[in-house]
Amino acid sequence: MPNNSPTNSNARDIAEIVVPCQELDQTLSFFVDQLSFRIEMITPADNPNTAIVSGYGLRLCLRHGGTGENIVVRLHTSDRKAQTLHAPNGTTIEIINASADVVLPKLKESLVVTPLTSDASWTVGRAGMRYRDLIPSRLGGAFIASHIHIPNGGPVPDYVHYHRIKFQMIYCRSGWVRVVYEDQGESFVMNAGDCVLQPPEIRHRVLESSDNLEVIEIGAPAEHETFAEHTITLPTPTLRPDRDFSGQRFVHHVAEQTPWLPWRFEGFEARNTGIDLATSGYASALTVRGTKSSVIRENKHQHQLMFIFILSGLATLETGNDHEIKQLRAGASITLPSTLKFKLEVTADDTQFLLVEVGSSN
Ligand SMILES: [Fe+2]
Repeated sequence: MPNNSPTNSNARDIAEIVVPCQELDQTLSFFVDQLSFRIEMITPADNPNTAIVSGYGLRLCLRHGGTGENIVVRLHTSDRKAQTLHAPNGTTIEIINASADVVLPKLKESLVVTPLTSDASWTVGRAGMRYRDLIPSRLGGAFIASHIHIPNGGPVPDYVHYHRIKFQMIYCRSGWVRVVYEDQGESFVMNAGDCVLQPPEIRHRVLESSDNLEVIEIGAPAEHETFAEHTITLPTPTLRPDRDFSGQRFVHHVAEQTPWLPWRFEGFEARNTGIDLATSGYASALTVRGTKSSVIRENKHQHQLMFIFILSGLATLETGNDHEIKQLRAGASITLPSTLKFKLEVTADDTQFLLVEVGSSN
């Protein structure tokens, strides 16, 4: 690194943000007395116009002259309750409780049918990954489901990171991807039909993929934070497959090692990913296959999210009292509200779908 580059190791390198104020005394008292910042420097002694305070990993230079109205200071702490305050100079202080539970926005249920058409809209995200939004309404912000496609395989420019979430799973639809997870041993490859449950805040990294990797990612809440991890490297030396992450265990489901078992509707079999056990019943994910003409009928369900992604084959969805019919081909997904009557009929052999249920609607 060149000599003039800032580093974290040089104790002489200090950064400050200048926060203007009219009344230095009042603004300084607010930061010190109400927010527990400490005074680092004050000058001049006879009639101070500048004070430096530090706290929460932040250093502020309070300087007389002007207003701090356009400045927002965000403090992440587990010691204070989440709130918004206003300093005497007009600066907004947002206190974010770092240890508070992740709360999902209020669920707005709706029937969402997302076909995979030739003109389907894909957006290009980081590292050339293509994203297709499977629940554009996000059910009020509670859930997100994405169909992700990496056309060109090779190393993935990812870094060790974690997410502040309540639920997150990744299902490999086709191709393969190599991933590594905190306390889960060496990196491994997920193949078609495999999936992982990423419990809250587990450190992880995507390493490489095949050409034309396709995964389905489902998460809650829809908008969540991704944090870079600078301390922990992967793989970790410890192996703790039973580690509890906010009430959930990590799951690596390997389709080939999982038997097909009879399912709750006649004519269907399912492979259980084990997400139900690992989340103590909060969520479940199954790969389901049905023979032609097999039918699922439900008058209602008990979940916040009931999501189906057609992996292969064909099905027909009939909903409501007006019996509206939609044809579902491979790549289509549906999100079903808890009070909607529906019938799903398999109309081609070798029809498989992913069924994910999350949360309780009660
Ligand atoms: Fe991630």
